[in-house]
Amino acid sequence: MALAQRDLIDELERLPNYRVYGRVAGVLGMTVDVAGLEHVLSIGSRCELHARGGRRVTCEVVGFHQGRARLLAYGPLDGIGLGCKAEFTADEPVVHPSERWLGRVVNALGEPVDGNGPLPYGPKAYPLNAKPLPANRRQRVGGKIDLGVRAINSFLTCCSGQRMGIFAGSGVGKSIVLSMMARYTAADVIVIGLIGERGREVQEWLQDDLGAAGLARAVVVVATSDEPPLMRRQAAHLTLALAEYFRDRDLKVLCLMDSVTRYAMALREIGLAAGEPPASKGYTPSVFSELPKLLERAGPGLSAGAITGLFTVLVEGDDHNEPISDAVRGILDGHIVLDRAVAERNRYPAINILKSISRTLPGCNSPAENDLIDRAKRLLATYEDMAELIRIGAYKQGSDAAIDEAIHYYPQLDAFLAQDKDEPVTLAQSYRELAGVLGVPWAPPEPEPAPEPAPEAVPGAVPGAVPGAGADPVANQGGTMDPEQPSMAPAGDLAARQHSQDQRRRRMAAALNLDLGELEGATLVEPDPAAENS
Ligand SMILES: Nc1ncnc2c1ncn2[C@@H]1O[C@H](COP(=O)(O)OP(=O)(O)O)[C@@H](O)[C@H]1O
Ligand SMILES: [Mg+2]
Repeated sequence: MALAQRDLIDELERLPNYRVYGRVAGVLGMTVDVAGLEHVLSIGSRCELHARGGRRVTCEVVGFHQGRARLLAYGPLDGIGLGCKAEFTADEPVVHPSERWLGRVVNALGEPVDGNGPLPYGPKAYPLNAKPLPANRRQRVGGKIDLGVRAINSFLTCCSGQRMGIFAGSGVGKSIVLSMMARYTAADVIVIGLIGERGREVQEWLQDDLGAAGLARAVVVVATSDEPPLMRRQAAHLTLALAEYFRDRDLKVLCLMDSVTRYAMALREIGLAAGEPPASKGYTPSVFSELPKLLERAGPGLSAGAITGLFTVLVEGDDHNEPISDAVRGILDGHIVLDRAVAERNRYPAINILKSISRTLPGCNSPAENDLIDRAKRLLATYEDMAELIRIGAYKQGSDAAIDEAIHYYPQLDAFLAQDKDEPVTLAQSYRELAGVLGVPWAPPEPEPAPEPAPEAVPGAVPGAVPGAGADPVANQGGTMDPEQPSMAPAGDLAARQHSQDQRRRRMAAALNLDLGELEGATLVEPDPAAENS
């Protein structure tokens, strides 16, 4: 009850003190021209149109034409006609997120769409179109972050605050890789933006791939393909705004967006409606200036919190040089390429290691880890070079020692890269297994000097114990590094795993000001006991 009252008071305080009206002076396709507000409105301003029948339609100014403001709507234009009232509402769209949004699914307007009742609002307004943090005040990217996918953890290791693209044609497995990361990552909180997907896919993804345990420590923002372009664009902005909210609470956030291409398509529709000229592949110039503004919002924060971003790019016609792929590749700190040819032979995730790159490598690895992945990549490259000849039987065993070695190791490396979507794999386990495949004796990397003991978590305070950027270098990824150990066995016994899960729940509950009971049953990380003690 107290909560409902506070929400109501907050709502009332947010109401504007005065109202300004104009009138609809023209409607053409998806655009509405409004007269009478030219001196109040600017690009990005919002208006509410009073449709006949009482419905309200929120619109945004995308341009000016012949002395009138040109608007696009966030909803259908049914009931809008000449002379309808257009009420100026607010300039800058904001959201009031709260930690209680975890486990919820919202639309681009921040309204709940999961049928689980109203959302509580937090006290602080977060602008949806926030500017990226100033580059000179940001932390550097932190230590490695466990993404739970074997091929990525080993060959394309990602650091806290890094931004990576996942590039693939349709149906090659982008969404499933994202769901694996969402479920198995060691990040504290996951913010997921599903932009422009088909409605059927969204439900299936949420229920079958992400599941209840994955959702428990995530917030999902959804705008399906049938929604107006402004909604799809805003869903992407809201996703980043929510990630910024959790980052500012010094949490390690994993921001997953599926897909940036659909976001770019929404920008294209908006640009064309505003009268921009189409440039490459019909994308308007503003698309290419907006993309970096969105993607740069992910990254390290000013203190311990960081947003690690994974953005999928739908590569149309499997052409990896199409304009959006090109632009996104240039902005991000690495790319993971999923290959249709690999998916066609049923090896999932269909990551093409040789075409993918993480730009924080080799710096974030120990020399032993770099040697291991260099050797594996050399073997894969040698095999790929000769693959055609080997397949048709034109290569004669014994002609070249390096090729013979590559042929020997290839089936095991290929099996190593495969991972069932229900199988979590930790960072330490990834290296241990790769060493096992290559027959390299593997010892745990030297442990880092023990950190200061973490202060007791105080409910309501953000505890120092929350792992920040750089808190979990691989040196802390202990476990028994025994190449003989079966590949599925995670490090540590069940009791230790349970203990680390409990520790992590307590830390999360304190950082987010939640009751411990609310995180009951949520699998927070595939535990890595040594990292837990950092
Ligand atoms: N790890 C996996 N294990 C088994 N099948 C997979 C895996 N990843 C993808 N697939 C198959 O590929 C199909 C398309 O995957 P999806 O992630 O929806 O592709 P995209 O998002 O790239 O369009 C899935 O329906 C599934 O059959
Ligand atoms: Mg998909």
